[in-house]
Amino acid sequence: MTEDLKGFLRRAKHLSEVISSAGSVVVVSHIDADGISSAAIAKRALERLDLPHRVQFVRSLGEEEIEAISKMHEDVVWICDLGTGPCQRISDRKCVITDHHQIFGTGQSSLELFGDMDHMLNPLLFGMEGSTQLSGAGNTYFVARELDERNLDLAYLAVVGAVGDMQDRNARKLGGPLHSLVIKDAESRGDLQVVTNELQFFGWVTRSAAAMLAFSNDLKAVGFSDTIKEVASLFYRSGIPLKRSSSQSFGRPGDRGFEWRSWSELTQEERNVMKVALRDRLGEIGLDRNALDGLLGEVYLFPNHPSGSPTREAKEFATLLNASGRYVLTNDSRGEEERGDLIINVCLNPKVYSEKALENVNNHRVNIREGMKEVHRVEQMINIQYLLPKRKNSFCLKVNDTILGIITGMVLDQKRGGEKLEMDISKPLVALAEKEDSGGKGGDPVVKVSSRMSRELLKKGINMGSAIGHAARIVGGDGGGHDVAAGANIPQKQIKKFLKALDEEVGEQVSRFNPSKRS
Ligand code: C5P
Ligand code: C5P
Ligand code: ZN
Repeated sequence: MTEDLKGFLRRAKHLSEVISSAGSVVVVSHIDADGISSAAIAKRALERLDLPHRVQFVRSLGEEEIEAISKMHEDVVWICDLGTGPCQRISDRKCVITDHHQIFGTGQSSLELFGDMDHMLNPLLFGMEGSTQLSGAGNTYFVARELDERNLDLAYLAVVGAVGDMQDRNARKLGGPLHSLVIKDAESRGDLQVVTNELQFFGWVTRSAAAMLAFSNDLKAVGFSDTIKEVASLFYRSGIPLKRSSSQSFGRPGDRGFEWRSWSELTQEERNVMKVALRDRLGEIGLDRNALDGLLGEVYLFPNHPSGSPTREAKEFATLLNASGRYVLTNDSRGEEERGDLIINVCLNPKVYSEKALENVNNHRVNIREGMKEVHRVEQMINIQYLLPKRKNSFCLKVNDTILGIITGMVLDQKRGGEKLEMDISKPLVALAEKEDSGGKGGDPVVKVSSRMSRELLKKGINMGSAIGHAARIVGGDGGGHDVAAGANIPQKQIKKFLKALDEEVGEQVSRFNPSKRS
């Protein structure tokens, strides 16, 4: 199918008309950075239309959620960034779907659930890719853009959503014609600065420059293990000051009278000097100097957001959203609605973003670190491999199910620091965790599955979204997602059967793609 940009924009226009003619709208969105950005875009667009509306976050679109959606009283349900489960129930709800997950055949697709194709905006329907060329927030943005010209000021959130979904992971930039439009919209208003050929590390704004390099998982993954002291001496040797006099309170307090400079505060020239120094340092410690090239790409800065704030750079912004959003549906002293509002406000009012949201980042980081420690080894099957914890007789990592996908992706990229796991990158990687609160009401416990694979495997014909959905349905579960990143919910009792079915289906995909290799 050829790229149909005009058709995509026509569909966006059509959906904007469905929304503007509604009397009330409920937005149902995903709890990750992309889903939250989507919800924020939709919310601001609805506010501008003066339409009564509310936002509801969900973990995924399973049977329960579909049931709840059918009962919602609003005229239109605007579903953002949600792939679909196996539900067969046809709803007569009027829906608008802005999404980028794969759409499968009969009996699985939201198209069958919510009416016809006309109700969905998804790059996959127009000959473009869903895992790299536009995220849920991007699709939501294109509808908002048709609703009101003022919504062009939300383009930055489409960038945050896409970076949150790691759409820049392989090409090291946000590619494709739709991202070009988003970037143009944001840049032309002065809302976005794209820095090219730069280190795509975490902490451009909130970490000191030395800490950004010393703590970088990307650098650790290529074997770099210098301490922060050693990195600091690299700065001194290169004549790049690490400190500046203290003038503002945001960010990284140093000793009295000075503060540490972040990488974003270095001049372009200083950054270039440091990149050369870093390359030389890799060579000096016996590593491949050119490994640094693989870590360079585009970095997206939001110059209108406060300096020192995590909302000033897309990766940190997305992490801030993930740190709150992934726990929106987890019980704590605050209510679900309050947690949802808080995080949408971080998107829409970054200038007055809440310290409360920032508190969650540490918590999130600890959860990820603890989750990584759970990973003990990789078990091989014929066509797939899966992670195992140290505990005997268990397939499940003790990890919050909402961050299992993040852990799986980080393990695949060997972003663990320390010793490497023995892994076979020619196979997709799968991980399992018990779902919180599952089995509570006398039902069977449910297990969350996540999988990630290298884009290289697409060339062998592997599509994880479709394979995992197939295997999950065999054991009475549901699943789907993208070609390179997918997930499922399955009954705990069926784990072995599920893994076997998944292994076989991936093997089948490879044989179907290349029949001559059929054994
Ligand atoms: O539900 P959603 O679409 O937002 O999830 C996307 C997930 O896919 C992200 O968590 C990201 O880790 C993963 N992904 C990836 N590599 C890509 C694209 C997406 O790991 N190239
Ligand atoms: O949860 P995780 O990050 O591993 O999810 C990867 C992708 O699979 C996401 O796009 C998510 O929406 C999708 N997924 C799904 N059905 C599930 C679980 C995840 O479509 N039951
Ligand atoms: Zn998404």
